[in-house]
Amino acid sequence: MPEDTQLRHWRLREDATGIAWLHFDQAEASTNTLGRETLGELDDVLARLAEATPRGLVILSDKPSGFIAGADVRAFRELRNRHEALQAIRQGQSVLDRLAALRVPTVALIHGHCLGGGLELALACRYRVAEHDASLALPEVRLGIHPGFGGTWRLPRVIGAPRALDLMLSGRSVRGRQARRLGLVDHAVPERQLQRAAHSLALEPPRRQRPAAAARAAGSAALRPLLAWYLKRQVARRANPRHYPAPFALIDIWRRHGGNGRAMLRAEAESVAALITGSTARSLVHVFFLRERLRGSGKEGRDKEMEEAPRPRRVHVIGAGTMGADIAAWCVLQGLAVSVQDTRPEAIATALRRAEGLLKRRLREPRRVQNAFDHLIPDEHGAGVGRADVVIEAIVEKADAKQALFADVERRAAPEALLATNTSSIPLETIAEALQSRERLVGLHFFNPVRRMPLVEVVAGQSSGRTALARARAFATQIDRLPLPVKSAPGFLVNRVLTPYLLEAVVLHTEGIAIERIDGAATDFGMPMGPILLADTVGLDVCLSVAEVLAETLDVSVPDRLRELVAAGHLGAKSGHGFYRHQAKKRPQPVDDGGGSADLGAVQDRLVLRLLNEAVACLREGVVADADLLDAGMVFGTGFAPFRGGPMHYARSEGVEAVVERLHRLAERHGARFQPDPGWEQLK
Ligand code: NAI
Repeated sequence: MPEDTQLRHWRLREDATGIAWLHFDQAEASTNTLGRETLGELDDVLARLAEATPRGLVILSDKPSGFIAGADVRAFRELRNRHEALQAIRQGQSVLDRLAALRVPTVALIHGHCLGGGLELALACRYRVAEHDASLALPEVRLGIHPGFGGTWRLPRVIGAPRALDLMLSGRSVRGRQARRLGLVDHAVPERQLQRAAHSLALEPPRRQRPAAAARAAGSAALRPLLAWYLKRQVARRANPRHYPAPFALIDIWRRHGGNGRAMLRAEAESVAALITGSTARSLVHVFFLRERLRGSGKEGRDKEMEEAPRPRRVHVIGAGTMGADIAAWCVLQGLAVSVQDTRPEAIATALRRAEGLLKRRLREPRRVQNAFDHLIPDEHGAGVGRADVVIEAIVEKADAKQALFADVERRAAPEALLATNTSSIPLETIAEALQSRERLVGLHFFNPVRRMPLVEVVAGQSSGRTALARARAFATQIDRLPLPVKSAPGFLVNRVLTPYLLEAVVLHTEGIAIERIDGAATDFGMPMGPILLADTVGLDVCLSVAEVLAETLDVSVPDRLRELVAAGHLGAKSGHGFYRHQAKKRPQPVDDGGGSADLGAVQDRLVLRLLNEAVACLREGVVADADLLDAGMVFGTGFAPFRGGPMHYARSEGVEAVVERLHRLAERHGARFQPDPGWEQLK
């Protein structure tokens, strides 16, 4: 057996039965990833193993978090050009080829996460055994690429092309048992049996599994074009090939080379090298790190005092309307005990019904649903305040009502409880006036609907304490939301930046341009939904009140059309009528569509540049600390085209000078609202 004293990331031992156990334990990291160094060492070990020929080889991870989290995404950003990318990918391919070529039985022993390159490594083994709770996926498309370490060739051979392409195109993950049903692993077992299962596969190798005959046929030269055509049509429903080229590239290379391993590997490497250095992948990698940063901000700033404080277990929500009901349901789903208070018992009853619906959809198993539901307590008189670790207020948007409520809450809450308001427009300082200890109050501004919007703005009022803010960020992370620290300025970040964009859409409409043309311009840019449909969905009354608050301090004017609709009770989706007519299970139909046409690019420019200009104003005023946080807020709070990486990433990729020039031109034609913000000067 080879000596392993030189290894930093891998450890090799041989047991009494002659099986080699290769442990992956990447130095100075909490998870294992495949990068230049870890792959390089693996290559050396495999070269020596090819000589030493033990009876079998088991590859396993020593990290509690799981097997391997994938390729090292950090290294993606260091790839300067296609050539460098190609070299890195070829290194990965050749190491896994060496693994696949070993003549002894090889087994991947999988616990926890087994993602991307990690799963490709497992696929290069002859057998795979996973614990029931393992999570296996090839999520590369979410980063704008597709598998590049031979996965596009090996996965179809293991589970058949239809299932393989489904996994690679969706990026979705499967648990151990499901992986067994798909044929992705040979055995799914409880954790305590993993080692024994892996050992016996290595010692007494069974015949290798093969996909069913029909699945094999789907990968034949005759049928590939047909399946490829069908898959492209499916994918095109979810993604625009101009915005997200990776899934289409994957289908193409499989159609052309799916029958020839060598050609497939070559095409796979070239395709990933082109994608990974392209703008979509660069933006999606930027977004990946934004997410990591927000998650991390839930942990940073924990001072000593806070580290000793236990994680919150009880939450008390006051106000069981649109937002309070959703927040309560979400917290229960995340395993917290929640009491819900409202002056109207019927609001509490509705909140409970909605929470039950969410729990059923997400947890499915009746026992788990019941168990979670038992932790949701109707609490008309607020008995739960005194026991809560976190109190979240989501009552009507009226300063005096909120002040009166918090004065009472402060008297009854435990001294260490975190006090948070979900207000969208009342300055935190105003609400805090009612408190004895003003430093306790922070904003936790959720977005509607809470279950789908991952962002929570953690709002710092002038008097909010450092510890309270750190605890609020940690709490948001605990309930699987992304905390964005923002200053208590009108509209905070997301509503402030979004409002001029929504208002510009209304102005375009009043100029006679068809609603669908305006919304189409935004979705063509890459927004998940057009601004007018978004306004209808959020509620025109909500939009109007945000716009009016902003109009007090900023240079925005509220179009009459918006006021008229709200005055007539046309509030959008919730009243069935707004700019669109909304009927259950039908596509919204535009009402009173002027039918006017306009150049798509011109409409896009007016919408997007107003948004960018406001974003720059927010940066200049320090509403968020830097451009990356601004991008994070808009991507996770509004779905701003992720393949463009957020407003600031987009502005930089277009060139700041060019954007400012376009703003000047728009200001000449359409007025001062397009005047470039002074903040652009600092970005040049
Ligand atoms: P809502 O009108 O749907 O619900 C408010 C609830 O609070 C009602 O059920 C009402 O009975 C109850 N309530 C009023 N006074 C109370 C009191 N003193 N004690 C207990 N319950 C009381 O309002 P919504 O839309 O849920 O908004 C709540 C808060 O969340 C507001 O501050 C709003 O600005 C904010 N917000 C709203 C968003 C939205 O999209 N609707 C998004 C983000 C924040």
